[in-house]
Amino acid sequence: MSIEGIKRKLQGMISPRRFTHSVNVMETAEQLAHKYGEDVEKAALAGLVHDCAKGLAPDVTFDLCKKYGIIIDEIMRKEPSLLHGMVGSCLARDVFGIDCPDLLAAIADHTMGRPGMDKLSRIVFIADYIEPGRDYPGIEKIAEAAQESLEKAIVAGIDCTIADILQKGKLLHPNTVETRNWALGLLESGEVRYGKVQTEK
Ligand SMILES: [Fe+2]
Ligand SMILES: [Fe+2]
Repeated sequence: MSIEGIKRKLQGMISPRRFTHSVNVMETAEQLAHKYGEDVEKAALAGLVHDCAKGLAPDVTFDLCKKYGIIIDEIMRKEPSLLHGMVGSCLARDVFGIDCPDLLAAIADHTMGRPGMDKLSRIVFIADYIEPGRDYPGIEKIAEAAQESLEKAIVAGIDCTIADILQKGKLLHPNTVETRNWALGLLESGEVRYGKVQTEK
């Protein structure tokens, strides 16, 4: 399916506001892919469709999880929006005919992150935080970090998410915490793969 075809179909699946966000994430992911040497077309496509399952009602989300064999834990049951990345990845394959495994993984990973996620997933994860239509306390810090390294931006982004979750009194999923600890570990060990190369300690 062409990008234009995907855009048309996507517009029927999500709200106009979410569609604008998706196009913005596509463009931001493209820029980050250029900067960090990732496949620009893959980053663009993953950015465009990353939220294709975000508009689904919880019961539809749960039905699709059953259909696709996605295991729902207790926290996901209480916060069904945590599932939209994994469900979206399956829809990207079935509805949009995307069959590239790392692209599908980037869609699945974008909601909570995943320790060990690859460069494409890191890019989409961060583009979702810093696309130009976003406005929330702390976004500048994440955008600045993204100019330095993907891992720094992941930590800054998740710090913001956690602060927001605490403030709202919502449930915090351990996958989010594990992703933060993993990215922080990469930074502390100097093992930053997709940022500034560290030549001395
Ligand atoms: Fe999302
Ligand atoms: Fe998003």
